[in-house]
Amino acid sequence: MLSSAEIIKKYINFFKKHEHVEIKGYPIVLQNDPTTLFTNSGMQPLVPYLLGEQHPEGNILVNVQNCFRSLDINEVGDNRHTTFFRMLGNWSLGAYFKEKQIPWFWEFLTKELNLPLDNLHITVFKGGEDIPRDEEALIIWEDILIKEGLDPKEKIHLYGFKENWWSRAGTPDNMPVDEPGGPSSEIFYEFTDVDHDMSYGEKCHPNCNCGKFVEIGNCVFMQYQKQNNGSFKKLSQKNVDFGGGLERLAAALNNNPDIFTTDLYEGVIKAIEDNSGKKYEKENMNSMRIIADHLKGAIFLIKDGVIPSNKEHGYILRRLLRRSAVKMHLLSGGSTPMGGFENICDEIIRIEENIPNSGINRSEQKNNIFNVIKNEMERFGKSLDNGLKEIEKLKNIKGKEFYLFQTFGFPIEIIEELAKQKNKEIDIEIFYKELEAHRDLSRAASAGKFKGGLMDNQEMTIMGHTATHLLHQALRDTLGKHVHQTGSNITAERLRFDFNYKSALTDIQIKKIENIINQKISDNLPVYFEIIETKIAKKIGAIGLFQDSYGDKSKIYFIGGSGDKSSNAYSIEFCGGPHVDFTGKLKRVNIIKQESIGQGQQRIYAKVNI
Ligand code: ALA
Repeated sequence: MLSSAEIIKKYINFFKKHEHVEIKGYPIVLQNDPTTLFTNSGMQPLVPYLLGEQHPEGNILVNVQNCFRSLDINEVGDNRHTTFFRMLGNWSLGAYFKEKQIPWFWEFLTKELNLPLDNLHITVFKGGEDIPRDEEALIIWEDILIKEGLDPKEKIHLYGFKENWWSRAGTPDNMPVDEPGGPSSEIFYEFTDVDHDMSYGEKCHPNCNCGKFVEIGNCVFMQYQKQNNGSFKKLSQKNVDFGGGLERLAAALNNNPDIFTTDLYEGVIKAIEDNSGKKYEKENMNSMRIIADHLKGAIFLIKDGVIPSNKEHGYILRRLLRRSAVKMHLLSGGSTPMGGFENICDEIIRIEENIPNSGINRSEQKNNIFNVIKNEMERFGKSLDNGLKEIEKLKNIKGKEFYLFQTFGFPIEIIEELAKQKNKEIDIEIFYKELEAHRDLSRAASAGKFKGGLMDNQEMTIMGHTATHLLHQALRDTLGKHVHQTGSNITAERLRFDFNYKSALTDIQIKKIENIINQKISDNLPVYFEIIETKIAKKIGAIGLFQDSYGDKSKIYFIGGSGDKSSNAYSIEFCGGPHVDFTGKLKRVNIIKQESIGQGQQRIYAKVNI
């Protein structure tokens, strides 16, 4: 049977054979994207290009992307949901469309992976409101299925917006203005010899969620963009955004719907069995899957620089680790010492190191990953027992029991789960209100998703983006060339910029930085990009965060200089864009706040005034 690593190689090679350029995966923690905390699908870092920006490596792309979906945290525990997963992705940025994507993916599944035809099912968008049924996809599928000797009526299932429309925000009513989306066509694998949940009815179908069918690929035909009045206009370029979960493809090849039995998890479950002294059987499965998933997610977040904290990314990491700790404690009857995660984490790292493009390097990263996990586990371990005893004593859990969170550091979902297990009443709404009032943590932030436009590609955000480049260079001019960006988050209201520097800036330094930026604004410098070889970009001093994730060619944004003088530009950065065309559009930038965020890192908030 094919290993997961082989599935990736086959997929990449198949699409390379069809002229796709392989691009590197992006980090899980995205920069310059105010919309979500993490890269949650392969397309997320490609949004500017799906909207028409030029991609440095062409318009036909393929990759495998590490993804993290914190919103799925509560789904983990069944046989197919995880927070961390890998997405195989291929894209056409205005090049080919349905006529190629559908036959290619079918060929990949049936000829490259040799999945049995009988087990495959297709879904197509049936239309709704002012968006018509996807006739093009339907005709292409009918043609393929008839040629295969299959009956399209049995194999093709039509669904509406809920199932067969894809945008990052979900259905059209949830999409903010400017967000791109479109009808999708999904392929499901039917597992025949499995127990499935009969409460979904006698006759199941791909989207009935009974556990018999698992989606193994999603072809999104991104051809619409939401407008101010709520209707849709056609995008200037018709894109294909394909995503397929590696874990689920591996499960289909394994003919077992439980992804935790694939080579991506088998060793991890075994390590959990060893640690807990329990077997991977019905009553333990849920906890073991949560531990396996959460520790894997935690390892990938730590690898990308996240450390446990009570805010944003760090808070999600903290929840993953603490929830694993509670689950393991309960599973093993409290007999596992907190440091006992080492063999499980080691097994995850060992498996992941052999997966193409995982970014995991055992010898380089193991110590740091272990230290971060150990510190957090030891810290939480001290209050774990007492916290559990406290929950035991309570009659119900309402707002005032918020102290469980504060004193014992129990993540919300753990309190909710334990309350349910022990038949205690819990009012989660009051709990969230308390949380928001105390902790600068909105429900949306704690779920990993921010308020406001998911797309947020508005004019002010674009200006904030250009201001960020000016700020980055002005900081280096003032504080030294060793200073570089470590994080960024831009909304229409303000920009936030993190960088390495030993101490808080003085008032004089802040004034100086502000003056430099505003001088560059009044000089009304041109802002433009060139696509050049990455090694040349580095040679001319382009600054970038994740130099390892760039391919042979890169898109470089320049501010100032032009044409053959571009290397004399004021700012030269690796960047996807978009930006304003002249700095004068910004009028003025003010630094409004600074704070130290620990570990030799400073944070600045600034506002663009137009
Ligand atoms: N972007 C699409 C998804 O995440 C392919 O399913």
